[in-house]
Amino acid sequence: MVLLKTNGAFPLKAPGRLALYGSGARRTLKGGTGSGDVNVRAFTTIEQGLRAAGFTITTDAWLDAYDAVWQKARAAFTAGIKARIAAGDPDGFMLALGAVMPEPDYDLPLDGEGDAAVYVLSRVCGEGDDRHAVPGDFELTPTEIRDILSLQAKYPRFLLALNVGGPVDLTPVADKVDNILLVSQLGMTIGDSFADVLLGKAYPSGKLASTWAAWADYCHIGDFAEMDETRYREGVYVGYRYFDSVGKTPLFPFGYGLGYTTFELAVNRIELDSSFVSVEATVTNTGRRPGREVAQLYVSVPQGKLDQPFQTLAAFEKTDELLPGESENVLLGFDLRDIASFDNETACEILEAGQYALRLGVSSRDTTVVGAIEIGKTVIARQLSHIGGEPDFVDWKPEAVPCAPLPEGLPVLSLDTDAFDPAPLPGAPEISEEAKAIAAGLTDEELAYLCVGDYRETGSDSFVGSAGMQVMGAAGDSCSRYPDKGIPSLVMADGPAGLRLDRQYGEDEQGRYSIQPSLFELVKDFLPDEMVNTMHLNDVKAERHGVIHDQYCTAIPVGTALAQSWNPEVCRACGDIVGEEMERFGVHLWLAPALNIHRSPLCGRNFEYYSEDPLVSGRAAAAITDGVQSHPGRGVTIKHYACNNQETNRLRNNSVMSERTLREIYLRGFRIAVENGDPRAVMTSYNLLNGEHTSHREDLVETALRGEWGFDGLVMTDWVVAFMAGAAHKYPAACASGTIKAGNDVFMPGSPVDHADLMNALNNGEARYPLTRAHLEKCAARLIDLALLLREQAE
Ligand code: BGC
Repeated sequence: MVLLKTNGAFPLKAPGRLALYGSGARRTLKGGTGSGDVNVRAFTTIEQGLRAAGFTITTDAWLDAYDAVWQKARAAFTAGIKARIAAGDPDGFMLALGAVMPEPDYDLPLDGEGDAAVYVLSRVCGEGDDRHAVPGDFELTPTEIRDILSLQAKYPRFLLALNVGGPVDLTPVADKVDNILLVSQLGMTIGDSFADVLLGKAYPSGKLASTWAAWADYCHIGDFAEMDETRYREGVYVGYRYFDSVGKTPLFPFGYGLGYTTFELAVNRIELDSSFVSVEATVTNTGRRPGREVAQLYVSVPQGKLDQPFQTLAAFEKTDELLPGESENVLLGFDLRDIASFDNETACEILEAGQYALRLGVSSRDTTVVGAIEIGKTVIARQLSHIGGEPDFVDWKPEAVPCAPLPEGLPVLSLDTDAFDPAPLPGAPEISEEAKAIAAGLTDEELAYLCVGDYRETGSDSFVGSAGMQVMGAAGDSCSRYPDKGIPSLVMADGPAGLRLDRQYGEDEQGRYSIQPSLFELVKDFLPDEMVNTMHLNDVKAERHGVIHDQYCTAIPVGTALAQSWNPEVCRACGDIVGEEMERFGVHLWLAPALNIHRSPLCGRNFEYYSEDPLVSGRAAAAITDGVQSHPGRGVTIKHYACNNQETNRLRNNSVMSERTLREIYLRGFRIAVENGDPRAVMTSYNLLNGEHTSHREDLVETALRGEWGFDGLVMTDWVVAFMAGAAHKYPAACASGTIKAGNDVFMPGSPVDHADLMNALNNGEARYPLTRAHLEKCAARLIDLALLLREQAE
């Protein structure tokens, strides 16, 4: 949790009478919706957590009345969507998946007894739709503003608790409310955790992983949520890189978060070893309660041929728990190469000549310059080749980025530019001889089966996020046709807030069968009957009467909450939980972590993603990967590669951006995750990049991912299923032949149409994406390679 404001009224000394209000009090959200939802047995709501901790809630009448208002609004909302779908809206299913009901308005008496009150504000969002800058979604409703301000005036101790996956514009209340806690969406123990923090048995020590600001203050230079073309005109000025460079003050800056205590930071030494910078600092708890602090190191790169944001996060380190008066030395280190900028003219990442100021602090807006690195002449950090295509505009840049002279007397260390060489590129890894030999022995048709996900010949069960046939509720499987040829099938199930499987499944003499497809359960209320029937999802339930098994999974905090911990250990521990459940339920690849950048606070899937900053994103992803992959035979799938930053028209939206922006902001987190986490798989994204689907872009898959970063695992597509791909738009959805040609190994979730597309493209010069047998063999061999590796590990 991130403490945004405090006047010392919390934590409370003991549980007592508490007035509890707000949409998230009883209807607490453990996470968002869509394929990232996790089917738990149960979870504690905030109301339940508080009662279990011994609080007497004095607002039952308010909570009951709010429930009634909500139910009524929900019924009207559901009927509205159902009618739109029935009227033939081509994006019907996505509409149902992303359907988010805005908060209703009401006027209920705020008369709970007690001297302490908590108002829990919640917001839900998810796959299939973006959020909207309107009251009840990104903004507060008049009802919420009125009630929050009245409660602040009425109760001596009042806490505004935010049960949200991403920012809400708190402008109307931020400076008037004394205590604000970002609880976030923390998975199944959220209610108990909240009670612990309220009572001081635990303390908030999180920091914002993205900027919280007034809607008008966010960067509106580029497009967002356009249907066809979304132009990223703002270039690298994303999140704090924008706010700091134009001198706008956000409500709560990137990296910010208070605690129940206070800290002081003092720098001990700064060293430069070759191109590696280390800053050692002492963090001291100067307050009266225990806590943990996050030391953050930013660099102001000098302006040169390339314009530069005011500062860039280069390193961070969280202390252990420090008792009052206790200190800890933390070491913040980074390689200068990792803050190099892409020069489009030479296709190189360069470090330009000049002075690089090092800023140490506890948030992006609370830093002190502690020294500098001097680079005498421009050096090349990496020699690359062009990827990603070109935009039809020149990136925006700020008129004048603030820049102050380095204070006197600080250490300035010089990089030895003569001894500095460009970093070598690893080159695409080899596929094992064993896997190559198995692939070479297969027919063309068999190879084509391996290059698409497993499916039933009817194709009717290829339901997005629920196409798995071996583990019920898994999102899909790789081809299961050839066990006798020594090729295991891989079971893939979603995340990122845990492992998403059906709660229960049936098993009889014919095998396992699905009784509760989980994603379907999520949308079924919105779907007209005919649509439900064409999906054939109800047939089995009526016909089979086997044994019912449970398959409940653990919901961990949403991606943004994990990033807000700024603590790789927390991420690793959550990965460990997921890895253990993968072993238990027989899942090989987890379709997570998801690390797209928080470019706009309105992206409907931001809660699944980590941060507006690629370093925070990449480190969180690498740590969770480590946790999952510490379980033999289990791997992660980092997604959605790349530039998938909005949900509007998500299958066919074109992200238009410069190569510098692509590399420095949108690919960098993936590169960090690959280089530091060694993920087993990568999922390409639905969207296009500069006019071509990312999954059709050989430059993204082969040149960057495999060639520049040395990724040696499996590349799969995101789930393109016929009924989603059908709607008419400027760009078509990706197709199997296009993705295999570009170096994806498996087109998911797979259908007869996809297999036929591959067979048609094979040796066919007339096909849109002509394929040779060598293409199929290579992809199949990479899949076999991974399947053999995971099997060997598991044995
Ligand atoms: C989502 C992916 C997910 C996949 C499988 C897609 O709709 O974009 O994130 O992993 O479905 O459920």
